[in-house]
Amino acid sequence: MTTKIAVFASGSGSNFQAIQEAIERGELNAKVELVVTDKPEAFVVTRAKQFGIPVHAFSAKSYTSKEEYEAEIVALLRDRKIEWVVLAGYMRLIGHTLLSAYSNRIVNIHPSLLPSFPGKDAIGQAMDHGVKVTGVTVHFVDEGMDTGPILAQAAVEVVDGNHEETEARIHAVEHELYTKTLKKLFEN
Ligand code: GRF
Repeated sequence: MTTKIAVFASGSGSNFQAIQEAIERGELNAKVELVVTDKPEAFVVTRAKQFGIPVHAFSAKSYTSKEEYEAEIVALLRDRKIEWVVLAGYMRLIGHTLLSAYSNRIVNIHPSLLPSFPGKDAIGQAMDHGVKVTGVTVHFVDEGMDTGPILAQAAVEVVDGNHEETEARIHAVEHELYTKTLKKLFEN
């Protein structure tokens, strides 16, 4: 059975694209039914349009609360019979409304070996700390910031003093690890 998913992203969307391309190559039996973004100008919107995938773009400022915009998102997800929510660079904490509607059905990817360096700019944090090895974590989402149960991790060597190169290595590993992990999740 093809698993129906929604991808949530706030930025470039390279992970979204990697997932979509894996689906198109037949490596992942899933369908991205919807891309959700809180940044209507983000490049992920352009990527989604190129693939013909519908986008729900919202601006949190236009709502009185997280509950309000999440209730709208939950209605859209239910309407499209979405089974899993895949966060890929979505820069907002998931609130109670979405968490309770999709309990144990929300996953995230983070560019560090959690529990080290949660939150923003994980690569910068790791480099400032001087670690020689960092990595990528895929985890279930709970109410905390990058705190849910870990599903998969992969190590990446830091390129000393070179943020850009380290980030490129991390992205390459993310694109493979996310697809592989989703495949295992959806098959079980
Ligand atoms: C990735 O590094 C991901 O781990 C983090 O946000 C970044 C998103 O990159 N949560 P992209 O938008 O998928 O290119």
